[in-house]
Amino acid sequence: MTQTDSERILSLLRQMSLDDKIGQLWLVQSDEGRVSERLASSIREGRVGGVLNEVDPSVVDELQRIAREESPHGIPLLMGRDVIHGFRVMAPIPLGLAATWNPQLVERCARRAGEAAAAVGINWTFAPMIDIGRDPRWGRIAETFGEDPFLIRAFGAAMVRGFQGGDLSVPGAIAACAKHFAGYGASEGGRDYNTTSVPEIELRNVHLPPFRQLVQEGVATFMASFSDLNGVPATANAFLLDQVLRQEWGFDGLVVSDWNSVIELRTHGLTADDRGSALESAAAGLDMEMASDAFAAHLADLVREGHLSEERLDVMVGNILRVKERLGLLDASPPASPSASSIESSLHTAYEAAVESIVLLKNEGDVLPLSGVGKLAVIGPLADDPYEQLGTWAFDGDPSLSQTPLGAIRGQAGEMQVEVCRALDTTRSTGTNGFAEAVAVAGRAEVALLVLGEEAILSGEAHCRADITLPGAQEALIEAVASTGTPIVLVVMAGRPLALTNVLPHVEAILYAWHPGTMAGPALADILFGGRSPSGKLPVTFPKHSGQIPIYYAHKNTGRPPTPNTVVSMEDIPVRAAQTSIGNTSFYLDVGDQPLFPFGFGLSYSAFEYANLRVSASELAMGETLTVEVDLTNVGGCEADEVAQLYVRDPVASVTQPVRQLRGFQRIRLASGETKEVVFTLHTDDLAMVNRSMEWVTEPGRFEVGIGGDSRAPLAAAVEVRA
Ligand code: NOJ
Repeated sequence: MTQTDSERILSLLRQMSLDDKIGQLWLVQSDEGRVSERLASSIREGRVGGVLNEVDPSVVDELQRIAREESPHGIPLLMGRDVIHGFRVMAPIPLGLAATWNPQLVERCARRAGEAAAAVGINWTFAPMIDIGRDPRWGRIAETFGEDPFLIRAFGAAMVRGFQGGDLSVPGAIAACAKHFAGYGASEGGRDYNTTSVPEIELRNVHLPPFRQLVQEGVATFMASFSDLNGVPATANAFLLDQVLRQEWGFDGLVVSDWNSVIELRTHGLTADDRGSALESAAAGLDMEMASDAFAAHLADLVREGHLSEERLDVMVGNILRVKERLGLLDASPPASPSASSIESSLHTAYEAAVESIVLLKNEGDVLPLSGVGKLAVIGPLADDPYEQLGTWAFDGDPSLSQTPLGAIRGQAGEMQVEVCRALDTTRSTGTNGFAEAVAVAGRAEVALLVLGEEAILSGEAHCRADITLPGAQEALIEAVASTGTPIVLVVMAGRPLALTNVLPHVEAILYAWHPGTMAGPALADILFGGRSPSGKLPVTFPKHSGQIPIYYAHKNTGRPPTPNTVVSMEDIPVRAAQTSIGNTSFYLDVGDQPLFPFGFGLSYSAFEYANLRVSASELAMGETLTVEVDLTNVGGCEADEVAQLYVRDPVASVTQPVRQLRGFQRIRLASGETKEVVFTLHTDDLAMVNRSMEWVTEPGRFEVGIGGDSRAPLAAAVEVRA
């Protein structure tokens, strides 16, 4: 209970018994598609606050009717679902959405998905995930918006706006959930659910800012992470759930556990039993328990025996009722489910997102766009698979709506002959029986289009990989097809950055399509045939080899940064060379210091020039704003979008800072030959960092700035911030 609670919530809290209150704290798994007696009677008795994973509208209606008409206080249920990147119609996976660098578009994707989910009675999605994705081995990198807190913040906020709108009680709006609070992306070794050890300063600088931003956006709910953070699992971490989230940021929505993460406190080794787990998590600041029932089983005794105060219990219940109130669920006539948004508009948004998410990584000899090709070979297990293109977290994705690359290519082929060969059953297949046919088909064609990558199930929760090369025999397939001499255009669908080092020399072009969703086909075909120019940019660094991980652009300089002169390869070291430390720098003998493709990178069918970088002032007082400008010209032959990126460096600070950090980006459409002035503003607050006392401060001194098309943009201008 807080002072801001409405009279309605206060009055409910006064009327509710201890058991009624505890009932609100349980988010229980549905019986998917039916109203079981187990669930119906629990709701009737007031033992359930929310249900997850029920998407049959008639079942949802009945569960809500029981809650409203037959439960002790008639409080409707939260109906939760992982609506992550679509509902029926799927947009690209979140990592693909981030590659659009277009938050407005992603907001529309979230809106469409939310409306479709709301139409079946869902009022709560467990999205957006705003964890930091710096480890491509981690299967859940697919669900992230990549490696950069600034980019993640922008996309997280866009998703919240899309799902929630300005008013949660408006039909079509659903509550969003900022997850997983916090540090989950730092799972050791990129292995899911693993322990995380993140110094507080790193937590505050890198992992927490997206969450803080979402509190400011009005996100209704938070989810605690499964993981152990510095020895205290997030589910029972009072520093996170109470000190940071409530006291520092003033969050007043609800915090839900992850699936069974309350009872897993015992497995972590924090508690001896479920009773201890219920107490630790409730006392630390968790409000609602997902799936397991430790609260239901033990909280009443814990309160009666004085281990958990009734005030704390009222706060927990109040947090949940407040979200229900904002959703309009406590109103006399709660909002009716809206009618589904039209499939057409969802398909259109998903198509736009897919087009803008596809990143052109290589285009030797301008093999793309394909023009004047009389005969095209289409090879690979993902060319015509309506299911796999949807990616992870596509529970409600409808493969029957999927438009595959092959289907779309045939639709646009005109006179062009298309010959098809699957070559491998799945992306994991190791048999090479299909290679002979693939080689024959490629040999007869002018261009071989290979659609390869990872099936949906090879990324996502719990699906991590130590080796992030193309799985199965796909590398061998590429080499076999390359032996024909036919130029290869490789389309990769995957849930993570793959290490493409071995295949790069064998292919003329690479389009990285992530898992593009329902509209993969039209998006890819339009790019392949030049209807649209590729414009996606990498939201995450692509390593040459998984041994380089973690590798991200915003790294620290170290005391011995590598330079082109100091990076040597193993082969160049003389036998029995004397050991010395002098002049040595930080790199690997076998893969050097550079990634395969840097953060922010992506080619176009056109080309862009950045010129005349300028700043509005050479000095800035605290609280002032700097303007950073550049002239951007499309010097290529076609209209295209470019994503201009603003990077900043604080070269001398009381705490060492990254070599650069993204502080702005804009997607700009330019006709061939057109020039536009690109203008960014930087307030001195945008130059802040966490100091040794854990405070956000802007320290006086020199800041370097630059604008360019990827994270290698020269930082060619500077400003002096005065105290
Ligand atoms: C576990 C996942 O970690 C979380 O992201 C998801 O929302 C819940 N399960 C519910 O499905």
